[in-house]
Amino acid sequence: EKGGWSSFMRKEVSEQPEAVANTLLGRVVDGQVHIPELESFGDDELRAIHRITVIACGTAAYAGMVAKYAIEQWARVPVEVELSHEFRYREPVLDEGTLVISISQSGETMDTLMAVKYAREMGARTISICNTQGATIPRESDAVVYTHAGPEVAVASTKAFVAQIAALYLFGLHLARVRGTLSETELGKQLAELQSVPEKIRTVLGEAEHVGELAHWMADTRSVLFLGRHVGYPIALEGALKLKELAYIHAEGFAAGELKHGPIALIEPGQPVFVIVPSPRGSATLHPKVVSNIQEIRARGARVIAIAEEGDAAVLPFADEVLRIPLAAPLFEPLLAVVPLQIFAMELAQAKGLDVDQPRNLAKSVTVE
Ligand code: F6R
Repeated sequence: EKGGWSSFMRKEVSEQPEAVANTLLGRVVDGQVHIPELESFGDDELRAIHRITVIACGTAAYAGMVAKYAIEQWARVPVEVELSHEFRYREPVLDEGTLVISISQSGETMDTLMAVKYAREMGARTISICNTQGATIPRESDAVVYTHAGPEVAVASTKAFVAQIAALYLFGLHLARVRGTLSETELGKQLAELQSVPEKIRTVLGEAEHVGELAHWMADTRSVLFLGRHVGYPIALEGALKLKELAYIHAEGFAAGELKHGPIALIEPGQPVFVIVPSPRGSATLHPKVVSNIQEIRARGARVIAIAEEGDAAVLPFADEVLRIPLAAPLFEPLLAVVPLQIFAMELAQAKGLDVDQPRNLAKSVTVE
């Protein structure tokens, strides 16, 4: 039940610290990842994997895109992320060295289910990341790592998304240890970062009031753009998806590096653009590039809303609004930066008098093609 909240979505957004904490619970033991559900995957098998294919739809696919950066960096295995419905209707190259990871909150998405079945027929081994105990996709997979976000009722996925990233990060760190690609010290550092995420999400939630005000004065906006680089790129896509589905506003997410290859033509005076700014400490190369992207769009009249690390002063001269997130290592920023974007979409939808739990034309679980 909603238990005093005005909507399930608001409740679920606020439950994100617990969604991540519960997904990690019992899975980090003595500074090591411990996932008993993966016992059928022996260390030799995990060492033999030469490629990972992630299949999912919608928000779950964006969780996969975020994890691609982490798993490749930590475990040095190439990861590709593909939409389930694209995957199953081409002729993907799969063999026993390919690990297929499906991500699905409901565990019932028809396209993802069919893609998993197809992958198994082709001889690939499959792991399911799922939030619903006993759902069909986990039953059709070789192993399942459950996210423990609790039931997600609102159509728009929020707490399941952060829990999916947490589960995939645990898997990535496990893989890195087995494959010997991260030192014990480095593993410990990453695990500590992961475990500090719930508290940092709590901080972001505590500062959300400002996002509500922003949404209110933007209620008449017809189009919003989102820019990000590296792990900020899938977050830009997710921010745009949330706005489309909840507030019915045209929204697009772009990789900031693509600006000059087309999207910058969209910028006209007053165009709102959210920019996810990487940490100046953690991403010394990318931070100045994103700041210069902000200058480029600002010079063309964009109204810039920057999501930036606490204390990052470089964005101040160029951004119209700055939404702050706590300091975190670069790979962990998506888990924080997504929160104000979810709240923005929700508040804007509410300002327009829309039902945030049941947006038009959408179903919570897409069990048809
Ligand atoms: C977006 C949203 C959808 C789902 C997608 C996959 O807010 O809810 O994009 O993420 O339909 O659903 P699952 O994860 O149940 O397979």
